[in-house]
Amino acid sequence: MNKIIIAIDGYSSSGKSTLAKAISKKLKYKYIDTGSMYRGITLLAIQKKMFNSDLWNVSNFIPFLKKINFKFKWNKKFNKTNIFINKENIQSKIRSIEVTKKVSLIARIPEIREILTTMQKNMGKKKGIVMDGRDIGLSVFPKSELKIFMKGSIDIRSYRRYKELKKKGIKITYDEVKKNIIYRDIMDTSRHISPLKKSSDYIEIDSTFINIEEQLNLIFQLINNKNKS
Ligand code: C5P
Repeated sequence: MNKIIIAIDGYSSSGKSTLAKAISKKLKYKYIDTGSMYRGITLLAIQKKMFNSDLWNVSNFIPFLKKINFKFKWNKKFNKTNIFINKENIQSKIRSIEVTKKVSLIARIPEIREILTTMQKNMGKKKGIVMDGRDIGLSVFPKSELKIFMKGSIDIRSYRRYKELKKKGIKITYDEVKKNIIYRDIMDTSRHISPLKKSSDYIEIDSTFINIEEQLNLIFQLINNKNKS
């Protein structure tokens, strides 16, 4: 079977990463969560105090970015990728409330999108990759063989994220989670550069109604049909 590129885009907490991980495990493909890259840069921006210094002037922040080294390492035991910036494992730090609140601001900056998009394109050069995010099928891999667009009701998505955060021991209310998801939906769909949207070649999945097993059945049917044609 020829290796392909699978692009998964969609709204926050719509189940992109659950589906992407399951597909990558089954096909033995690389899985790249591009949201964690935007989160990683946001963490760096917070650490560098970019938000309240003259680093907010992007031309001062970009030289820092050019020097950073992103690495994804597969953690077999926990079935997840760990993300490293300059050898530091930042996996747990990038899920903090502070990063989550600021990430969509960072993701609107054209220079930052350009740097990350170039890195992501390079990661897919050999194909055999599942990548999830907001602009993968339209900007990063417009020629990807399979494009999936995930959505879900705001309540289902908020509740899913709320449960995840609670499990990690993060103190937050359901309303705060919901407010943040609505805010990010608006920021991600309204930005000028690579907003979250789909084109006619996407397969849409609504995770409000379709569970992960059904999603996987659908995807593997599509992959098998592609192989036959
Ligand atoms: O996927 P996740 O919710 O972790 O993404 C965090 C944020 O990163 C999104 O709300 C969005 O603002 C940004 N993002 C993006 N483009 C991507 C992936 C994420 O703008 N490809």
